[in-house]
Amino acid sequence: MARILLIISGGIAAYKALDVARQLKRDGVEVVPVMTHAAHHFITPLSVEVLCGQAVHTELFQPGGESDIGHISLARSADAIVVCPATANLMARMAHGMADDLATTLLLATDAPILLAPAMNPHMWENPATQANVALLQQRGAKIIGPAHGDVACGETGRGRLADPEVILTAIRDIISHKQADLKGRRILVTAGPTVEPIDPVRFISNRSSGLQGYAIAEALAARGAEVHLISGPVSLPTPPHVTRINVQTAQEMYEACLAHLPVDAAICVAAVSDWRADTIQAHKIKKKGDEAAPTLSLVENPDILATLSHAEQRPTLVVGFAAETTHLQDYAQQKRQKKGCDWLLANDVSKHQFGGAENQVLFLTGSGVEPWPEMSKQDLAQHLADKIASFFHKEAP
Ligand code: C5P
Repeated sequence: MARILLIISGGIAAYKALDVARQLKRDGVEVVPVMTHAAHHFITPLSVEVLCGQAVHTELFQPGGESDIGHISLARSADAIVVCPATANLMARMAHGMADDLATTLLLATDAPILLAPAMNPHMWENPATQANVALLQQRGAKIIGPAHGDVACGETGRGRLADPEVILTAIRDIISHKQADLKGRRILVTAGPTVEPIDPVRFISNRSSGLQGYAIAEALAARGAEVHLISGPVSLPTPPHVTRINVQTAQEMYEACLAHLPVDAAICVAAVSDWRADTIQAHKIKKKGDEAAPTLSLVENPDILATLSHAEQRPTLVVGFAAETTHLQDYAQQKRQKKGCDWLLANDVSKHQFGGAENQVLFLTGSGVEPWPEMSKQDLAQHLADKIASFFHKEAP
């Protein structure tokens, strides 16, 4: 799990750091919060603590608490230190190597990448002293995000607004993924979304799959350096960063696209593939004809992509499936894992967690047992699975 040390210094934009913390937590990142004394005037440590899920550090020397040496090891174990907002004062002290409070001490002690998101009055930003400090920090390797142009809290307009939290997050995610490229060199296939099986030019058979879980998994794997090929049924989701997406409509197209992508190191079949399709697709819209009986739809079975990949000559080293059940979750899932021949199966009870929801709760089944995973967001589940996949390949490596 990636760990970010988030330093919040005392500016009016401090409240926006809460957004950044919340999003990072959603990405499955551990966020260790540090607040300067001045930051306490703008937001409460309690809000920060709740969003980060851990206590806020402020004091350099805390009676009965961690020693300063502990804090230094904290600074060194982080994947990155993010200062949001970074005030002119904090950057000035940093530029001059001061270590007169916890935040500056951590910044001086760390060997992790440092990301600064400045926010201040436009005149303060433009002041040659600030500009010289920023240039010095940049020269020493700190990455500066923003500030943005616009209205600032004191009523003036200019460059001084904290960069958009999304821009800050993208920069943090980039640092994490470079640092955590433990799936680099692995080629991974992910199927996601529903399939759509036409009946005639206007009608089709499909299901309610949103694609959220599969897309979150593709994103988490790509963020760790894997070369991800996402074979996707029709969904209304953006393609995750660094993922190659192949759009398909039918199960047959998904099947062919998957086989065309072999060999891969792993295949993660998350798609809700339609089990059947119409045996003939009518060239013209089926018309209602007076009082004749309703037409009957004759169905044929679609190929099972998961089972095919599990038994393929070029079988991926790791094949993972999903199973949606409404009763006898564990028994049915265990039988399904064996029948399909996949290595791992994530089974969820869709009577509780419906298609399209943001949360998921699964049983994680392997050849050696069952782990019940707690209820979590689909993003967290994706991170959890990516951890498992990374450690699987880590053990595999010669
Ligand atoms: O058999 P069932 O549809 O419940 O199995 C679910 C698992 O099998 C999912 O991982 C799904 O992506 C995969 N599957 C498939 N091809 C099918 C049907 C299901 O890959 N035709």
